[in-house]
Amino acid sequence: MCRASLPFSATWKLYLERNSRCNVFRRIGTAGSTWWSPQCAAVRQGIVDMMHRALREPEVKSVVICGQDGKFCGGADIREFGAKMSGPPLVPMIHMIEAAAKPVVAAIEGVALGGGLELALSCHYRIAHSKARLGLPEVTLGLLPGAGGTQRLPRLIGVPAALELITTGRHVTAAEALQLGIVDEVTDQNAVDAAVKFAQSVEGKSLDARRIGTFPCPRPPDLDAVFEKVMKEVRRSARGAIAPVTCVQAVHAAVTLPYAKGMERERELFSTLFTSGQARALQYYFFAQRAVSRWSTPSGARWDTSKPRPVRKAAVIGLGTMGRGISVSLAQAGFSVVAVETQEKQLLEAKQAVSGMLERDAKRRGAPLAHGNIKYSCSLKAAADVDLVIEAVFEDMALKKAIFRQLSAICKPGTFLCSNTSALDIDELASQTQSPELVVGMHFFAPAHVMKLLEVVYGPRSSPEAVATAMQMGKKIGKVSVAVGNCRGFVGNRMLKPYLEQAFFLLEEGATPEQVDQVLEEFGFPMGVFKVSDLSGLDVGWKVRKADGLVVPDSTGKSARIQGGRRYSPLGDLLCEQGRFGQKTGRGWYQYDKPGGRVAKSDPWLHRFLEEYRARHGLVARRIDQQEVLERCLYALINEGFQILQDGIAAGPEDIDVIYVLGYGWPRHRGGPMFFADMVGLDKVLDRLERYHQLHPDVPGLKPCSLLRKLAAGGCPPIHRWREVIQKPHSQL
Ligand code: NAI
Repeated sequence: MCRASLPFSATWKLYLERNSRCNVFRRIGTAGSTWWSPQCAAVRQGIVDMMHRALREPEVKSVVICGQDGKFCGGADIREFGAKMSGPPLVPMIHMIEAAAKPVVAAIEGVALGGGLELALSCHYRIAHSKARLGLPEVTLGLLPGAGGTQRLPRLIGVPAALELITTGRHVTAAEALQLGIVDEVTDQNAVDAAVKFAQSVEGKSLDARRIGTFPCPRPPDLDAVFEKVMKEVRRSARGAIAPVTCVQAVHAAVTLPYAKGMERERELFSTLFTSGQARALQYYFFAQRAVSRWSTPSGARWDTSKPRPVRKAAVIGLGTMGRGISVSLAQAGFSVVAVETQEKQLLEAKQAVSGMLERDAKRRGAPLAHGNIKYSCSLKAAADVDLVIEAVFEDMALKKAIFRQLSAICKPGTFLCSNTSALDIDELASQTQSPELVVGMHFFAPAHVMKLLEVVYGPRSSPEAVATAMQMGKKIGKVSVAVGNCRGFVGNRMLKPYLEQAFFLLEEGATPEQVDQVLEEFGFPMGVFKVSDLSGLDVGWKVRKADGLVVPDSTGKSARIQGGRRYSPLGDLLCEQGRFGQKTGRGWYQYDKPGGRVAKSDPWLHRFLEEYRARHGLVARRIDQQEVLERCLYALINEGFQILQDGIAAGPEDIDVIYVLGYGWPRHRGGPMFFADMVGLDKVLDRLERYHQLHPDVPGLKPCSLLRKLAAGGCPPIHRWREVIQKPHSQL
């Protein structure tokens, strides 16, 4: 399409082409990704050179800029961030395009994201293919659109819409882009042909009204009130992330300053973000998600060595909180589902609940209903011909074992048997079956049809094919699947235990639930540990502790503070004995206006209870500062993370970080617990743990793990080099 005969054409098509050399007349460098990499420099150089030529040649009357391979431009390549920039800078380039005296039209196919959309906004017209997606996602990487995006978008589509897009990084469809006024035309046909035709139709027309940088920025009459409201909302939802807040400041500059000054302000704000730890954390997290998708197990299983088996029909056993969400996820992804409950009553209730969830979700997404895919039954025999089973009955080993024995006898040979257990031994379940190699854990998070995380737990006998099939299933239902080893609580819940325990010990030593929660929420968790316990139900952990034999009074009849030879805090058990199970009973670590109430209020009863407890056990409350609360809770959790790496339960720190961000509300702008430890400094984390361990030698979770010591002794290598240390034989640890 791009012809050498172009000079005879009235319109030049400037191709942003992948992996091409910029000195080829018809092609101008790489599209789709980079503005800063070598290829990217070639793209910009190509655009600049070709624009100069196009403007010089009298026979050229208009220009169309398009990508190659159906993609306009995906913006910068973040792998290149931090490298020295070469080639022509982006901002003068977009100014040159906008100032061009001949019409320049962007033909947007595929994506126009980040710098790609900023390039398109510098063109005088934008024609998009109906399947194209557009957006300014920089905020998700801890940045702001730094090539005029924050100054042009509000001028084009108004302040409220621009603020929404820039502060969330949301992508929009071509149809929405047209409605918002970002593009001028949407086509189902070839967008480049449409753009050429369009360009020819506007040749010779005045461009005065087409240069967005010259538009006055619409100024809401109640400017201060609008920005105050937006800032308040953005600060609340950002939970300490600075990029969304800085985006608001940049858009404010677009409204209050002339264009050139606004651009200067955008540049200053961009530089602040660019050098912030948060941008580093978010970019690390972006790559961590990619790293976990290239999973591997110690046995050498990974995508290229282990072929997943196709799964068409799956069964879900147990339709409580989790089974319902799992059934919804499977049905929505097009699997045939057999959903099994114990009795008709439970089955009917579950059926109504699942139908309601599917209807609400279909309505929200504007997608067709997936009802027909689910068959309900009260008999395990209904699972006889399925390819894969996900068991989600009560967390009770004896019950789960019985079900695995029955499934092994009922299901056709080769059926994969998976458990959604949150902590139990996958190998023990596998041992109940005739084919233990077909057994893996598929640990979903509540609500299972919403939460993105799936821990795929391989036992010592799980076959690579079984792991690959579960990973593939996760992918098909839209989850981020992380392959983890088999141990009590796997990765996420195992690390949660020392975190929770520290919170309990802090209460014994003088803290209050409000104080602990406030510190954790200021760190960026959506809810503190005690509010989360109230939400998920205190009785859940109580049942587990009872099953573990921890809930027993000592010889004096008091609840024992030593169990199994280690310090134990019975505080959670004592609350449960009072019937305080959290939100569901209207009382827990906080009080609620009624059972099922959601707003946590401080409860004087609880404070009296803590005082009495301390008095009974001869504990003297001391003042505990914020730093200690944060360090004791987080460093104990991180310490367990190092132990998990040392034990080979997680393949690398990225796996832990993705699990914590997606499953446990760890603030994304802090990268994940292991990245956070790297940012703080491993020597500092070690030092603080050692200090707390000396002060509280009987408190578990504070003794630094040997991998942490080894990394610190080795000069604290950066996180991307930890695997080299971990992969050395354990005897060296
Ligand atoms: P739940 O108590 O809400 O539901 C369990 C369901 O299993 C009940 O509806 C029960 O009638 C059914 N059931 C019991 N025996 C059965 C049998 N023989 N055949 C068929 N159905 C049977 O429990 P929930 O919360 O859904 O948990 C299920 C599993 O998921 C547990 O192993 C739990 O540890 C795990 N899990 C729970 C999470 C949560 O947040 N609730 C999160 C992640 C995992």
